[in-house]
Amino acid sequence: MAFSEEFLEELSRRNDIVDVVSAYVPLTKRSGSNQFGLCPFHGEKTPSFSVNTDKQIYHCFGCGKGGGVINFIMEIENLSFPDAVRFLARRAGMAVPEDDHDPDRGKRARMLELNREAARYFHAQLMAPTGAPAQEYVRRRGIVSMVKPFGLGYAPEGWQNLTDAMTAKGYTRQELIDAGLARVGRNGGLYDYFRGRLMFPVIDVRGSVIGFSGRILSDGEPKYLNSPDTLVYSKSRSLFALNLAKKSKSGYILLAEGNIDVVSLHQAGFDSAVASLGTSLTPDQARLMSRYTTEVIIAYDADAAGQKAAQRAIGILQPLDMKIKVLKIPGAKDPDEFIQQNGPTAFRELIERSGNQIEYRLEQTAAQFDLGTDEGRVGYLKAAGKLIASLPGSVEREIYGIRAAEKAGVSKDAFLGEVARVRRQNAAAARKQRDREATAPLRAAQPQSRELRFENVRSAMAEEGVLNLLCRFPEQFGSLPLAGADFTSPALGGLYEAVMARVRQGRSVSMAALSQQFSPEELTLLAGILQHDEISAAAAQQAMGDYIDKIRAERDKAARADDLRGYAEKLKQTKGYGS
Ligand code: CTP
Ligand code: MN
Repeated sequence: MAFSEEFLEELSRRNDIVDVVSAYVPLTKRSGSNQFGLCPFHGEKTPSFSVNTDKQIYHCFGCGKGGGVINFIMEIENLSFPDAVRFLARRAGMAVPEDDHDPDRGKRARMLELNREAARYFHAQLMAPTGAPAQEYVRRRGIVSMVKPFGLGYAPEGWQNLTDAMTAKGYTRQELIDAGLARVGRNGGLYDYFRGRLMFPVIDVRGSVIGFSGRILSDGEPKYLNSPDTLVYSKSRSLFALNLAKKSKSGYILLAEGNIDVVSLHQAGFDSAVASLGTSLTPDQARLMSRYTTEVIIAYDADAAGQKAAQRAIGILQPLDMKIKVLKIPGAKDPDEFIQQNGPTAFRELIERSGNQIEYRLEQTAAQFDLGTDEGRVGYLKAAGKLIASLPGSVEREIYGIRAAEKAGVSKDAFLGEVARVRRQNAAAARKQRDREATAPLRAAQPQSRELRFENVRSAMAEEGVLNLLCRFPEQFGSLPLAGADFTSPALGGLYEAVMARVRQGRSVSMAALSQQFSPEELTLLAGILQHDEISAAAAQQAMGDYIDKIRAERDKAARADDLRGYAEKLKQTKGYGS
């Protein structure tokens, strides 16, 4: 029984490992993105069993067991791989594709086809004379040249335009309803869901049309109408224009509110703009972004609602360790209007000048304390001091420091003194950490499983390091001068080959995707390796180079030792020693 990778990924997405595990193990402690509890696989009194929400893995620091959500169910319910998959599918209310005759697989494929046909239809309508109102609209918004790349379309006024066109192509009533393109009217007939709207197809990173947003052309309500969630579409897990943004070389993703903003940004050359689809940013959407970037620049509307949404988005993005910036857009209501008024260059300057999220975080911090009391002020100063100490520029520290001091009503010198103290502390900690990183190997242990024992632990540690960095920062390592065969551990070499192949194809390297190809023991090994995040993205290149050097050095050493042993043998034979 082989499952498709897409299915396994979807299965894992819908079975968040923290939810699944916490039904068996009370998770009582939290540290960063790790939650801890008592290991269900070995007796213990203090929690060393960890579950990581970002990486979607579990790992016990005590007994070494670990893996993805499917492995967890295999282990705890004592099920085979396919049965664990069925178990999780049932839990998430998903149908299990039974090889070729999966009812849902056919349905899904058909729905995607229908969506594509509908997108074609809407696009043709926009280009046709019927599309005059929409043509006029895109002209007015200055996004004519984006009609093609975004596949924009027009859903004409009228009740059955799309329904008739798709029925003529052989799609059934039920298929139109299921895809969210038509609804049943009071008289029992179908009517088009989208009418009189500019249509934005929502295209996933694989290029499939999974849903639509329709924007009204006038001032009516609702401004945007979005496809309902369907078999192929989940709004909270999708981002508009990520299919385009993922190819951007900009190094960041611009997160806007409206689809028009996104299109307008792309038109102005900001090709990494995306928008959430009528939801406030969800953790799934944030995770999705984190697969393609390490920096998110929030460019929401300038109004109070937009700013509030930005605050919320920061809270969602922060746990993912992404760099976050918030654009303040002066004198315009949104990025689109700003660009129309001031041009792309001015917008680029906004991006370049935009600070980090410090102001927002200071405000958030202030809100947590009652500044009317001495206690509250002390708490605020400590927290704000920490924040400001993390700023790299001394000018920034001074400016924000003064602001924070004023807010708490203490002298600027006292406050900046506190900041300096925190900085000294941080510097000492960083030094210590660097020393530890330089000297301490990633993992100094043999794997749990006997079959996987490392022959050369020194090289294996570096090999684990390579895998760790490759999985955590795939975007940094499109190619490496290293083959699986260079690894001394066949298990690590095999994992490396599989992961590297996926990285090269730009595919995800989730546990789910690998879960079918590797044994539970190998996945346990991988989960243990992924547990480490001592090395930051910034240090990854350097560390990768060091690991590769180490692997090469160990290989050379082994070859030299072999060589010498052979030489010794030869010496013995020619000199007639030993017998
Ligand atoms: N929105 C939505 N569905 C989408 C996209 C946006 O419901 N697919 C909602 C957002 O949640 C937000 C609002 O619509 O509340 C965004 O509107 P706005 O930025 O004003 O949209 P624009 O099209 O850019 O509007 P305008 O033409 O006024 O700039
Ligand atoms: Mn807008």
